[in-house]
Amino acid sequence: MKHRAVATGRVLAAAALLSVPSAATLIIFVAILKLNMMAAILGQAAIMVLTAMLVRPYLASLGAVTSWSRALAAGYDSTPPPIEREAPVAEIVGAISQLRRAWQARQRELAESARWNETLFDNLPDPLILLGEDRRIVRVNGAAQAVFGHAITGRDIAVVLRDPSVLEATDEVLIGAQSREAEFTLPVPVERTFRVRVERLGSRAVDDTVAILALHDLTTVKRIEQMRADFVANASHELRTPLATLLGFIETLRGPARDDAEARERFLAIMYDQASRMSRLVNDLLSLSRIELNEHSQPNQTVDLGRIIESGIAAMQPLAKAKDMDIRAHLDPAARMVTGQADELAQLVQNLLDNAVKYGRDETAVDVRVTLAETLPAAAGSALKLGFTVRFAVQDRGEGIGKEHLPRLTERFYRVDTARSRKLGGTGLGLAIVKHIVNRHRGVLAVDSTLGEGSTFAVYLPAAGDV
Ligand SMILES: Nc1ncnc2c1ncn2[C@@H]1O[C@H](COP(=O)(O)OP(=O)(O)OP(=O)(O)O)[C@@H](O)[C@H]1O
Ligand SMILES: [Mg+2]
Repeated sequence: MKHRAVATGRVLAAAALLSVPSAATLIIFVAILKLNMMAAILGQAAIMVLTAMLVRPYLASLGAVTSWSRALAAGYDSTPPPIEREAPVAEIVGAISQLRRAWQARQRELAESARWNETLFDNLPDPLILLGEDRRIVRVNGAAQAVFGHAITGRDIAVVLRDPSVLEATDEVLIGAQSREAEFTLPVPVERTFRVRVERLGSRAVDDTVAILALHDLTTVKRIEQMRADFVANASHELRTPLATLLGFIETLRGPARDDAEARERFLAIMYDQASRMSRLVNDLLSLSRIELNEHSQPNQTVDLGRIIESGIAAMQPLAKAKDMDIRAHLDPAARMVTGQADELAQLVQNLLDNAVKYGRDETAVDVRVTLAETLPAAAGSALKLGFTVRFAVQDRGEGIGKEHLPRLTERFYRVDTARSRKLGGTGLGLAIVKHIVNRHRGVLAVDSTLGEGSTFAVYLPAAGDV
């Protein structure tokens, strides 16, 4: 009711305004041409009524367009008011509709780009934490959730990451520094070391983020650093021991034992053993680094593994005979050929046979089996396919290896019983070499051992195409 009154008032006001020129004309007519005053008033009234009838629909559609654009501005996406095409405001409605479509398209683009940024943030591999001014966590990505858990949003960073150096770096950035770095270690569930970079953002984000913590996992780098340091320490220790023995004997031969022919013979034999040991160690280190250097390129020769095994067994016979051991070969003729590199495979066979004879009990048998693999181990990569994989296994009857040692067996210089291995002339590099040769061939090494009964070392290799 009130709307209509206001609308009528507006119509009358507009009609009055638009009929001012006609009123002026009538007044002039009355003054000059002596037009009857009554007729002039009636005429003016008729003109006003006519004008009001003309502007009424125009004002009504203008009002509808105004409320529609107000609704759009307030965020309600309503459809345009029903305006006839030939109505005077139809052009304005068309222009606003065009604006509305362009604005909707832009909104869709923005939403899409926000979604994409969110996906990118969530899937970045390094953990990221967004912080507000009050040190509270505003958002975290998937990698950060994997490290710190899901329910950390809204918490003070000090509760989640208790490291003093990280908190100091964070506080400095929050009070104005541009960026700071720190390093911290998470002890559980497995020890991990991270480098964290705290960076102040250029301007405050809509979600109140003012700083970002970007974490980078240094665990692997640290582990490799540690392994390298251990390796250098082990290698020099292994070389220094025989070298010290040699120097000791040389001193003795130059001094007290100078004229003792019998002692000289004995010492020279020991010196020969020690020098051979050093030479073996250097050779092993060299072949290890050579294999490692080529590990990225899979060898592709067709190699007769059966023949390599036969000659490996023949070379091992003197040692086996000395321990009254029997090496029995079971070679499936259908599984002789593999894809690989002959010298490396000969070294692999040699190292496994050497261990079996060395660690097998006297008067027992060593069984060497070559077959097409009936199953593939879980660790098999894509290069191994069932039906096209050769399994070469060496089974001994020795003391066996405790479960706790199995994961570390192929580390360089790792020995279950260092004194025993050293006494037997071992350098602790044999299985490390085997492991790297197997890796280069894209194969798998599987160890199965029972304490007191013996061990089986099985190598799975890709069969050559024409098996
Ligand atoms: N068949 C086996 N039975 C029992 N223990 C074994 C067997 N093979 C290897 N080991 C254990 O694993 C350790 C590592 O073997 P690896 O062949 O790498 O070194 P090594 O035999 O001591 O020395 P190298 O092979 O360099 O002469 C050995 O010291 C030994 O303790
Ligand atoms: Mg060995």
